[in-house]
Amino acid sequence: MERIVVRGGTRLNGTVRVSGSKNSTLPIMAACLLTSKECILHQVPDIDDIRVMEEVLVKLGAGVKREGDTLIIDGGSVDSWELPESLTRKMRASNLVMGALISRFRSARVAYPGGCAIGSRPMDLHIKGFKELGCEVDDSRGYIEARASRLQGREILLDFPSVGATENIMMAAVKAEGVTIIRNAAREPEIVDLQNFLNRMGARIRGAGLATIRIEGVSSLGGVTHDVIPDRIEAGTFMVASAISQGDVVAENVVAGHMEPIIAKLKEVGAKIMKCNGGIRVIGKRPVRPVDLKTLPFPGFPTDMQPQMMALLATAEGTSVIVETVFENRFMHVDELRRMGADIKVEGRVAIIRGKPKLAGAAVEATDLRAGAALILAGLYAEGETIIGNTDHIDRGYESIEDKLRSLGATISRVDG
Ligand code: UD1
Repeated sequence: MERIVVRGGTRLNGTVRVSGSKNSTLPIMAACLLTSKECILHQVPDIDDIRVMEEVLVKLGAGVKREGDTLIIDGGSVDSWELPESLTRKMRASNLVMGALISRFRSARVAYPGGCAIGSRPMDLHIKGFKELGCEVDDSRGYIEARASRLQGREILLDFPSVGATENIMMAAVKAEGVTIIRNAAREPEIVDLQNFLNRMGARIRGAGLATIRIEGVSSLGGVTHDVIPDRIEAGTFMVASAISQGDVVAENVVAGHMEPIIAKLKEVGAKIMKCNGGIRVIGKRPVRPVDLKTLPFPGFPTDMQPQMMALLATAEGTSVIVETVFENRFMHVDELRRMGADIKVEGRVAIIRGKPKLAGAAVEATDLRAGAALILAGLYAEGETIIGNTDHIDRGYESIEDKLRSLGATISRVDG
């Protein structure tokens, strides 16, 4: 089994290039199923989750070719609307093909993705949207099976601004008859990227980035070339890496407007932040000041940055409080951070973090993707060696993370066994 080994104590310094967004690429790859024409995606990160989505598209009959950071997807031969459990279990986000399959075939049968380390993650909002558009949905036998004789645009109110449900409904509605309005839609930058991609294909969507999205059905969609937006969570991870190591790092290929909630919190802890063309420079300062934060849908503080921020606050001078409102069980990294000497108490969705001047390297396990990132960050600060197991989780979402951190001066390597 592979492990990542980090030796703490180096101040990171230099420039790092952020890859394309994982969470933007995944729905956009699914959207390629909406057309029989070829689509070309640039700035696609080379990570495991994207490889699983490639497998998903191939399973459905698409042609997928990778050339560097470009993916060429040919949906002309797609002939299946069914996804087995072996694939949905590999990656929950494979459910994002449902909306596109419903739109293209009026049918989709996708195995229930099941829960995951951070929560139960139901699909009720996706299903509600499909039903509103005219689908009959049966989810009683381990599969979500949707069928429609025709898709009719409707007004759909989401009880919670779910990212995946908003994306799936956008894709299901893009060729429906009439107008679909999604209210209380997710406002994440990835939703805007999906809208831009779909509109280039010929869709008529507006409002993404706001709480109400309006989709006017069109009869056909064509092939397009698209540059995926930069990954704001990867960027945020490097920004925290600079802050925790008292470093001076420029994260390049960043959309500053996507980073505001992260920038605001890093300023509060005392880091110096400067926007420079296409990048953000973070100079880490000690002492790290304690802060309180609550995860929220965009434009609030992202749940995908909560573990990394907790690692930083574990080294603050004082007590911080984190409230996790998006997922019910996203504190799995707390036990691992405690192994490194962190003083963190959890009460339900609240974590109380008493900052400590020192953390100590230890053997720890990545319990999920962002938890793994948090342990690497804690390792950059800790005395001695931190050995992180379950690296598969990290490889799902970070492209060449050791190489990138090493280029900034970190002592980090991967060992087998
Ligand atoms: C996406 C991101 C993930 C991020 C999350 C929240 C991708 C591939 N993944 O996940 O990295 O952490 O947004 O920003 O883009 N919910 C329901 N019913 C539903 C759907 C969701 O109750 O039908 C709940 C979930 O259980 C969770 C909350 O809504 O508590 C947020 O989930 P959602 O926004 O849907 O996250 P994902 O799209 O799965």
